[in-house]
Amino acid sequence: MTQEFDIVIFGGLGDLSLRKLLPALYRSELAGHLHPEARIFLLARTINDQQKLLAKINKWLTNQLKENECPEEKWQSFANRIQFCSLDITKIDERWQGLSECLAQHPERDRVFYLSLPPSLYGTTCENLNNHNMISAQSRVVLEKPLGYDQESANDINSQVGRFFPEDAIFRIDHYLGKETVQNLMALRFANAMFEPLWNGRHIDHVQISISEEVGLEGRTAFYDQAGAMRDMVQNHILQLLCLVAMEPPNQLQANSIRTEKLKVLQALRPINGFEVQSHTVRGQYVEGLMRGKSVPGYLDELGSDSNTETFVAIKAHIDNWRWAGVPFYLRTGKRLKERCAEIVINFKPVAHNVFDGSAGHLSSNQLVIRLQPDEGMQMKVMAKELNKFEMRLQEVPLNLSFADTFENIRSDAYQRLLLNVIENDLSLFAHRDEADLAWAWVDPIMNAWNKCGSPVLPYEAGSWGPDASAALLHSDKRSWHNGGKLQKAKAKRK
Ligand code: BG6
Repeated sequence: MTQEFDIVIFGGLGDLSLRKLLPALYRSELAGHLHPEARIFLLARTINDQQKLLAKINKWLTNQLKENECPEEKWQSFANRIQFCSLDITKIDERWQGLSECLAQHPERDRVFYLSLPPSLYGTTCENLNNHNMISAQSRVVLEKPLGYDQESANDINSQVGRFFPEDAIFRIDHYLGKETVQNLMALRFANAMFEPLWNGRHIDHVQISISEEVGLEGRTAFYDQAGAMRDMVQNHILQLLCLVAMEPPNQLQANSIRTEKLKVLQALRPINGFEVQSHTVRGQYVEGLMRGKSVPGYLDELGSDSNTETFVAIKAHIDNWRWAGVPFYLRTGKRLKERCAEIVINFKPVAHNVFDGSAGHLSSNQLVIRLQPDEGMQMKVMAKELNKFEMRLQEVPLNLSFADTFENIRSDAYQRLLLNVIENDLSLFAHRDEADLAWAWVDPIMNAWNKCGSPVLPYEAGSWGPDASAALLHSDKRSWHNGGKLQKAKAKRK
């Protein structure tokens, strides 16, 4: 169970709060993690009927969580924690003082300020918190991504927040770091002796990191059209995953040691400048197409105006260090793709010498698939002899670790884990300012070069795997994308 705390959610009735934060806190309530005295303050510009709002939240939670997960008495104890406050962040009035007085009832408590707001308001909000004496020594602030629009604006925002909160009280959330399989990637790499000796360019041919989504804009038109896939997904989620795959083992699994190693990876990322964007990157935008048999509109139709914003990015990246010399990292993300799937695929090199004759069949290279979602799990593809055959015939068989099958009742909620980490003051799954800075320093030149070199935004049909050029990016290296699909079950064929 946590210690006593107060959490103040700015944008408390917004989309993120309703879809992610409140369900995460409620799950913690159900699991008995929340201290009985903990309070949740939901801030919004206007608060009308509080009973109606509570009923709305109850409905949201019941819809999101399975019904048998929502016993009435638990809901009552959760509802009792909630206090609504109406507050206009841009106006200084007595309502700030009201919030300050509420928090001052428990000055010793850990205090979490969750800024579920546009980043342009972070500075003002922190300044107001400071002016109303709400920032105590036990206070921390949580910032959502993407932090800024480019390196310069991100630095600016970080400096504004940094005037009021020390770096070790700033939690930059990247919910991918809270996903169960991402945690398990660390366990795989650092709790097993067998992988580490192979985890380098001598044994690994290439790595793929791919996050494909079926959803389109989901009504976030204004935000998304400003951001695009590069800022929304690559600058943060994809590069964070890349860091965890590629980093050296940290001395300890603690924030500072992990950060030191992640920074080295980001520093070693080879810049992609100027005309290199044409051979190393692909950007695309979905047009009308069929998703699971249903026709869906294109990006521009959803947006209702013209736009050059990319909804798909594929990149061939390199990490210039001893471990990864010569190993391409293919990164890909896109909306309205054929399947929702997030995975890291480690492709090993072929065996040094094939001792089998042609009749044994093709010798595929080993592949380790680390599936973040859906059906979280890991699968190692290895070659084995076909059973019950007199002659030597080889087949690829999967060694599976399906978390859903292996661990009963797993319910991984990245926000739940990350919020508990904030409350427990554990920074190890959060991005440091320097990481965000280096990530921007790598993506900014790519986006600038796209514009300068007139690199086209290629159309792709909704329901496809992106523009043809994305497949060609790998084909020209005699490789191909691992395109989702169900992780194969390990079943021996018996005849
Ligand atoms: C968010 C992006 O950070 O991640 C969204 O802003 C995206 O555009 C989402 O849809 C994907 O998260 P998940 O956990 O559903 O893969």
